[in-house]
Amino acid sequence: MTSDLYKILERARWAPSGDNCQPWRFEFLDEDKIRIHLLFDRGNVYEGSSGIPTWVAAGALIENIRLASGLLKKKIFIDRVGDFVDGKGFVDIRFEESEMVYDPIEKFIESRTVLRFPYQLTDLSDNVILSLQRSVGEDFVLDWSISFWERLKISRLNMMSSKIRLTMPEAYKVHVKIVDWDHKFSIDKLPAGSLGMGKVSLIFTKFAFGSWRRIAFLNKYLCGVFLPQIELDFIPGIFCARHFRMYFKSSDRIWTAQDYIRAGSAIQRFWLTASSHGLSLQPSFSPIIFEKYVKQKHEFSVSKSSVSAAKRMAKFMSRISRHPLGNQVFQGRLGYSNRNENVTGRSVRIPLDALLMSLSK
Ligand SMILES: Cc1cc2nc3c(=O)[nH]c(=O)nc-3n(C[C@H](O)[C@H](O)[C@H](O)COP(=O)(O)O)c2cc1C
Repeated sequence: MTSDLYKILERARWAPSGDNCQPWRFEFLDEDKIRIHLLFDRGNVYEGSSGIPTWVAAGALIENIRLASGLLKKKIFIDRVGDFVDGKGFVDIRFEESEMVYDPIEKFIESRTVLRFPYQLTDLSDNVILSLQRSVGEDFVLDWSISFWERLKISRLNMMSSKIRLTMPEAYKVHVKIVDWDHKFSIDKLPAGSLGMGKVSLIFTKFAFGSWRRIAFLNKYLCGVFLPQIELDFIPGIFCARHFRMYFKSSDRIWTAQDYIRAGSAIQRFWLTASSHGLSLQPSFSPIIFEKYVKQKHEFSVSKSSVSAAKRMAKFMSRISRHPLGNQVFQGRLGYSNRNENVTGRSVRIPLDALLMSLSK
C-alpha cells in the first residue's frame, strides 16, 4: 500500500500553491494513512492574517490526491484537520480500497499551469461554461465578467492591488525571495520568464529588485508602478476571454480551515477542467487578501499610503461585487493562448523525497 501512496503523492505534488511555495511536507502515519504538514509563513504579507492561501493550496493538493487515488482504485477520507498553531497545521488523510470511477481530469494534473501573458479574446462556448460551472460543485458560485467594460473594471481592481503591492516594503521582501532569475524551470520559485513581462521590463525589474531604496526612488520619481500595472494588469486583464470570481454559496459566516480546503479542491477541479478544454488561467489573489486586512482593520504595512490604498481598493471591490465579499474564495482570468510556458519558463516542483518527513516507502 505504501508504494501506492508514494505514487499518489508523486502525482499530487503538482498542485498549485501561492508563488510555488509548496507549503507541505508528507509523513506516512500508517499503511493507509498520511499526515500533510502545512506551513503558514507569517512573514509573507500575501498569506493574510490566517493563512487562507495555504489552506486553499492544501485543498488543491487534496483534490489531486483524490484524483490520483481514483487511478489506483482508492478513495480518500479527511480524518482530521489541525488549524495553525505557531504557523504549523496538518491534515490527516486515510485511504481505502474502492471501485471508484476514474475522473479524466486527472490527466491534466501535471500539465495544468498558470499563464501570466495576454490571451486571445475568443469567448468560451456554452458547453465549456457549463462544464466549468459544474466543476465547482453545489457549494460554490461563479460570477463572470465578460464585456469590455466588466474586464476593464477587474483590470482596474488588479491595478489598484498592484499599487499596494509594489509600494510596500513587506511585499518587496517576498518578491525578491520568490523570483528565480537563473532557471527557466524553477523547483520552488517563479522563473522570471513566467512572470508575464517582456525582456526590457525584466532587465528593469532585476535592477530595481537590487534594493528597496531603488524601488522607492523609482516609485517616487519615475512612476515605477505604472509600467507593471499596464503590462501585468491592464493588458492581460483586457486580453482574455473573461474573468471569474468564485464565492461560497451559503450565507456569509466565519469560514474555517475545512471550508477553505473544500474551496481549494473546487478551485483545482475548476482549473483542471479549464485545462482539459485547452484554456489558460491566471489567478489574482492579492485583492482578496488586502480586502480582508481592511475588514479586520489590520495594519499590514508600515507604509501608510499602502494601507490607505487598500481601503480605497476594498471600497471599489465591494462596489463591483455581486456577492458578499466575505464569501469570496478566488478570482482570476481565463482564455485561449498559443503561448507555450515551456519556452518562457515554468514553475516545476520539489522532488518527492525532499517533501517526505519519513522515508519508509
Ligand atoms: C492560493 C493561490 C493563489 C495564487 N495567486 C496567484 C496570483 O495572485 N497571481 C498569479 O499569477 N498566480 C497565482 N497563483 C498561481 C501560482 O503562482 C502557481 O500555481 C504556482 O507558481 C505554480 O505554478 P504552476 O501553476 O504553473 O504549476 C496562485 C495559486 C494559488 C494556489
